[in-house]
Amino acid sequence: MAKHVVVLLLAIVWAAALVFEASADGAIAAPRQAQLLHMLKHDCGSCHGMTMKGGLGSSLMPEALAGKSDDELVAVILDGRPGTPMPRWHPLLTAAEATWLVRTLRRGEAGQ
Ligand code: HEC
Repeated sequence: MAKHVVVLLLAIVWAAALVFEASADGAIAAPRQAQLLHMLKHDCGSCHGMTMKGGLGSSLMPEALAGKSDDELVAVILDGRPGTPMPRWHPLLTAAEATWLVRTLRRGEAGQ
């Protein structure tokens, strides 16, 4: 009986390690994606508008981001834009998470 528990625990540790490895790799785990979407609406949305069409902050709709590179937008999210109200989100967000947010914004899914 106790042996089964040990095997089960090992299986759980192994599965957790796989999930961790996947997120270190740049893929964002599903529960974190849900948190990021919530953050996009409620934290980013407080300036950019809940539908991302702009407010105090500029529009983050796909058309508005079209001419800008991922690197440029990720840098603004992580470091903020000095001289404007856009705050820096590092260390609340990792580079992989900021990249995920940019890709989500480009798909136009954030404001739905
Ligand atoms: C306190 C208000 C505020 C909050 C909160 C905020 N932003 Fe901003 N953001 C701004 C402003 C203002 C600008 C435009 C700066 C300028 O004039 O260039 C901006 C610019 C940006 C840009 C660059 C857009 C472009 O076209 O160059 C991105 C991307 C961005 N914000 C993403 C985010 C994300 C993602 C969040 C949430 C994690 C967020 N912002 C939260 C105010 C905010």
